[in-house]
Amino acid sequence: MEMQQQTQRKEVLLEVDHLNTYIKTEDRVLQPVRDVSFQVRKGELLGIVGESGCGKSMTSLSIMGLTPKNITVQANHLLLGGKELTKLSRRELREMRGKEMAMIFQEPLTSLNPLFTIGYQLTETIRLHNQVTKKQAWERAVEMLKHVEIPRPEHVMKEYPNALSGGMRQRVMIAIALANRPSLLIADEPTTALDVTIQAQILYLMKQLMKQYDTAIMLITHDLGVVAEVADYVLVMYAGQVVEEASVYDLFRRPLHPYTRGLMNSTIKVHQSEEKLDTIEGTVPSLADMPAGCRFNPRCPFATAACRDKEPPLAEVLPGRKVRCIRWNELGGEGHGEQ
Ligand SMILES: Nc1ncnc2c1ncn2[C@@H]1O[C@H](COP(=O)(O)OP(=O)(O)OP(=O)(O)O)[C@@H](O)[C@H]1O
Ligand SMILES: [Mg+2]
Repeated sequence: MEMQQQTQRKEVLLEVDHLNTYIKTEDRVLQPVRDVSFQVRKGELLGIVGESGCGKSMTSLSIMGLTPKNITVQANHLLLGGKELTKLSRRELREMRGKEMAMIFQEPLTSLNPLFTIGYQLTETIRLHNQVTKKQAWERAVEMLKHVEIPRPEHVMKEYPNALSGGMRQRVMIAIALANRPSLLIADEPTTALDVTIQAQILYLMKQLMKQYDTAIMLITHDLGVVAEVADYVLVMYAGQVVEEASVYDLFRRPLHPYTRGLMNSTIKVHQSEEKLDTIEGTVPSLADMPAGCRFNPRCPFATAACRDKEPPLAEVLPGRKVRCIRWNELGGEGHGEQ
């Protein structure tokens, strides 16, 4: 059984082991990411979902070494392809970025420089990590734009970011991110700013390129619909913690955590009525005011005294499935609509 599981899943590319982030304020220390552990495997797409403020971006910025100055990052391991990221100097990390790992963000305009042409920005990225002539870099850049299906790439090379639509800009960002064939691509809400049709095209493109380039993707989104479309594995985060981890198939077939089920209810209703219905009462607790016990207990319809008393562990309760809920079994986790 165990053997079978191991042969089914691919080699581990990224190992995040007990990642914690801290913010020092005047009177205390806040923790936006708490004991987060997970793996990304070669050629797999890991979706990370959770509401706003759950620590999704902080987790990815920690891996990239791009957290703001006021944040302290600690981890037992952050291993990418066997390299310990926590032990690298700033310079070594910068070298890893763009080459071994790359990140794209929600709004490409903030990462593209409006003062330089697309061609300049793309060739600079290529030249930064490769011993190539300007001409070779240019040709490779045009090739990249073709790969991300940008029409008339030679022409777009000479354009400035503002001349492109949001969808085209995001394609450019993907081209820049993949230009040096990183083994890991972190995409933080890459399609949220785009309209639905373009969103689907970009996601499809990312998935295609992932296979072609043998890149693993960590896709961050608040949208379970997106996850259902493209992810292989899913991590559900709540209030800085992982609350559930499963293959996309298992997760949608049988969500185990009440929070995951709540998210699914809202997703389904959004598609039915085009109106955002919050089926989970309340909001994510603030960092300064975390509830005792299970962090989800104030919003959980199934919370008992035990849930308010002690923080539940993230436990592997079924083969390949983890959940941070002491009542997952008695709640059954069947379907998603008992409220
Ligand atoms: N530079 C910072 N200083 C202090 N607190 C921060 C900082 N950046 C983020 N936070 C806090 O850390 C928590 C996690 O933030 P994070 O940006 O990781 O959430 P997220 O899951 O990415 O949310 P969203 O879906 O809105 O992008 C939030 O409570 C946020 O307010
Ligand atoms: Mg975010």
